[in-house]
Amino acid sequence: MSKVSLSTLTKLKANGEKFAVLTAYDATFAQLISQAGIEVLLVGDSLGMVVQGRASTVPVTMSDMVYHVQSVSLGNQGSMVMADLPYMSYATTETALSNSAKLMQAGANMVKLEGGEWLTDTLYRLSERGIPVCAHIGLTPQSVDKIGGYHVQGRQQEDAAKLVKDALALQQAGADILLMECIPSTLAAEISKQLTIPTIGIGAGPDTDAQVLVLHDMLGIATDYAPKFVKNFLAETNSVQEAIKNYSEAVKAGTFPGPEHCYQN
Ligand code: KIV
Repeated sequence: MSKVSLSTLTKLKANGEKFAVLTAYDATFAQLISQAGIEVLLVGDSLGMVVQGRASTVPVTMSDMVYHVQSVSLGNQGSMVMADLPYMSYATTETALSNSAKLMQAGANMVKLEGGEWLTDTLYRLSERGIPVCAHIGLTPQSVDKIGGYHVQGRQQEDAAKLVKDALALQQAGADILLMECIPSTLAAEISKQLTIPTIGIGAGPDTDAQVLVLHDMLGIATDYAPKFVKNFLAETNSVQEAIKNYSEAVKAGTFPGPEHCYQN
């Protein structure tokens, strides 16, 4: 696979072709996942839960993220590396700029941050400075204590309208990709249709331009409860490589997620 860039993803969206995203936290898995043809490796702050054993992503620090981004970029074989800005690391535009620079220098090709319209000033500045950004809306795990749990978002008409408004404002402010987590499929489809930038979904139905899963969920090795949107791809094969390849192919063929993985209004 030739090196995946932002323009690769934009072209895939323009051609109506789907792409796959999977989390990676170390060099060995980064190599396996990129060799399987997954376009984007997400060094997610989910590492707080699946690698560090924490109860949420809140305790993850910038130095944790830098360490894992370095490891992933050493194993990567041509995928794009997207890295989460952890909790409070982008609370001001200035910290967003300096912390994004640290992740980019560690080997990321794009940063990801959680939030809606309030992020627009930060997005303008990052974009102006040439830092590619993915904005994450819907269920935003860094705000779990405010939201009160990992619940589906955007079911009420007013909340859905707010998410559409957020998505348009984030695109306008310079977001290069939008990630939507745990929202009804019809809402995610509507937002994807309205945006020109690629969209990635997790628990957001089949009509986004790409899908992402947490590696440990997709291999069925996460220890606690698996949300409805998760499929264990290792259950159908006895090879980790094959499971990752099957996930990539299912996303691109549009056969994952199925109706059983989706939320309705
Ligand atoms: O941290 C992460 O892995 C994520 C995904 C769940 C989208 O943000």
